[in-house]
Amino acid sequence: MIYMLDTANLEAIKKAVDLYPLEGVTTNPSIVAKENKPLKDILMGIREVIGSERMLHAQVMGETADVMVREADAMREVDPELIIKVPVTPQGIKAMKALKAKGIRVTATAILTPQQALMAAKAGAEFLAPYVNRLDNICGDGTLVAAEIAHLISVYDLDAKVLAASFKNVQQVHEVAKAGAQTVTIAPDVFDQLLKHPLTDSGVAGFTADWEAVYGAGTTVLDAL
Ligand code: G3P
Repeated sequence: MIYMLDTANLEAIKKAVDLYPLEGVTTNPSIVAKENKPLKDILMGIREVIGSERMLHAQVMGETADVMVREADAMREVDPELIIKVPVTPQGIKAMKALKAKGIRVTATAILTPQQALMAAKAGAEFLAPYVNRLDNICGDGTLVAAEIAHLISVYDLDAKVLAASFKNVQQVHEVAKAGAQTVTIAPDVFDQLLKHPLTDSGVAGFTADWEAVYGAGTTVLDAL
C-alpha cells in the first residue's frame, strides 16, 4: 500500500513527511485554488518539502487534449518529475495516449466507474483514481468501484495501479485496502485518523504511569539502563 497525502498545504505536508511513511502528494484544481498562490510556487514549494524521491501529482485544466498536453509540458518544466493528472473525459483519454507516447507519467482522475478506469489504463495511465466518498455520497458504492478496478487490473494484467481518492473516514480507506487498492491518497484530517484509537492512547498512558512510578517523571529507557 502506497500512502499519499491529498493536499497542497505545506504545513500539512511537512508534518506528514516527518511522521508517516508517505510516498507522495496529490493535488487537484480545488486543492490548488485553496492555496491562492501561483501554481509554480505551489509545485516548487511542495517539491522542496517532499524531496526528489516522493511522487507529486498535479492536474491539467484544458478542455482539449492539445491544451492538456501543453499544460503538462509547461508544468513539467517547473517539475520534471511531475505526474500529470488528467480527467477521464474523451479529450482526457486522448491526452493520456499522447502523454504516454511522450513518456510522461499519468494519473487518470475523476473516475466514478470501472469502465472509465479500464479505458484510462488502456490509454496509458499509470494510476487510476476512483473517488470513493463522492460515490458514497450519492448512494453509490465507492469501495466496490475501487475493488472492481483492482480486479480488472489483475484479470487483464494491466500496467496500472488503483490510486483510491476522496475519503471522509477511516473505514473507506480500510475497505479499499482490503480490496487490494495499491495506492491511496488521503486528506490530512483523515490521514491523522488512521492511527487514532482510545485504547492505544489509554494503553500508552498506563505504560507511562507505571514507568514513572518507579523510574521518575519524564525519564526514558536511556535513563533506566
Ligand atoms: O483529489 C481528488 C479527490 O481526492 C477529491 O477528494 O474530498 O474533494 O472528494 P474530495
